[in-house]
Amino acid sequence: MMAVNANSNANAKTNAGAGTDAYAIFRLENLQLYFNTRIGPVQAVDGVSFSLASGRTLALVGESGCGKSSLGRAILRLLPRNVHTYKGSIFLNGTDVMTYSNERFRRQVRWVRMALVPQAAMNALNPVVKVEDQVAEPLLVHQRVKNKAEAYSRAYEIFKVLGLPQDFLNRYAFELSGGMRQRAAIAMALVMHPELIVLDEPTSALDLLTQSNIMNVLKKVKWEFKSTFILITHDIATASELADDVAVMYAGQLVEKADARLFYDDPLHPYSRKLMASVPTLRKDKKLEFIPGQPPSLINPPKGCRFADRCELRHERCAAEPPMVTLPDGRQAKCWLVEQKAREQHA
Ligand SMILES: Nc1ncnc2c1ncn2[C@@H]1O[C@H](COP(=O)(O)OP(=O)(O)O)[C@@H](O)[C@H]1O
Ligand SMILES: [Mg+2]
Repeated sequence: MMAVNANSNANAKTNAGAGTDAYAIFRLENLQLYFNTRIGPVQAVDGVSFSLASGRTLALVGESGCGKSSLGRAILRLLPRNVHTYKGSIFLNGTDVMTYSNERFRRQVRWVRMALVPQAAMNALNPVVKVEDQVAEPLLVHQRVKNKAEAYSRAYEIFKVLGLPQDFLNRYAFELSGGMRQRAAIAMALVMHPELIVLDEPTSALDLLTQSNIMNVLKKVKWEFKSTFILITHDIATASELADDVAVMYAGQLVEKADARLFYDDPLHPYSRKLMASVPTLRKDKKLEFIPGQPPSLINPPKGCRFADRCELRHERCAAEPPMVTLPDGRQAKCWLVEQKAREQHA
């Protein structure tokens, strides 16, 4: 088990939550991120709200292009230059960090309290800097350690949990295999013990065996450090191994959020059902399906339900935007059929 670093307030908060009842460590309210393009603003993240309890993993799933990576970057405020709109609230342990200046966010939040393992992170490591220097850097930059020796020993503690041999610390990234580089990228995000870690497609660039190794590493990290993860993936089968909660994104919006066990047992939204039916290892008895058609353009998305034109269950009401409905068991879905079900259950 990791020694708890007394001067890390991130640690103190994480551990306070872990022993007691789970509480919402993280909450998004109406987060929006639009990008400018020549043909108009792309509404990549369009009013996303959810909360996440300490020590839980939320799998954020959905087809490619639905805004998952944009949401991850919006959370970490890692924005490209062509931002059109960036607003909403990001509560971290009760504080809305959206109100922080860029300088304060960079100093106190990014990498310190929230970290991102970007898509294809293993290729983003600097090939000609030693792994130990890349992993230790945040500790030195944010002055969390007295000297380099202490930074390296902290890096090594993380390495042990990730199953990286100590001698990898003084290798260069280009000397490591894809799986080992991905572990090093995860180590960089973990070294400050942030309250929230966003992992963007952490296994999708890897071969099958390495994928399952990385998933096992993440399970171990979750257990040892009581980490709170947002696991972004287009692969809901892989997500099922780690997820406590599932959030489904479609065309820039959240269409379903539920406890993972309830979700995998009985997805509510017609889009979620199609996603499940399209995964070989998750289908129960039915034949493999694919989802016909394409997600709508995010430049001029349809006014009503964004999934309607691909939905076999669409009806007149779908011309109006459905509300996000919460069922008594806590499951939420943005669909008129679920709204009807909720009303019937209430009656
Ligand atoms: N910097 C950018 N400028 C313009 N459009 C972007 C930019 N980044 C992403 N997009 C667009 O935003 C939408 C969502 O993309 P993304 O967040 O990468 O989806 P996902 O990760 O789910 O595949 C896509 O239509 C994509 O083309
Ligand atoms: Mg992506």
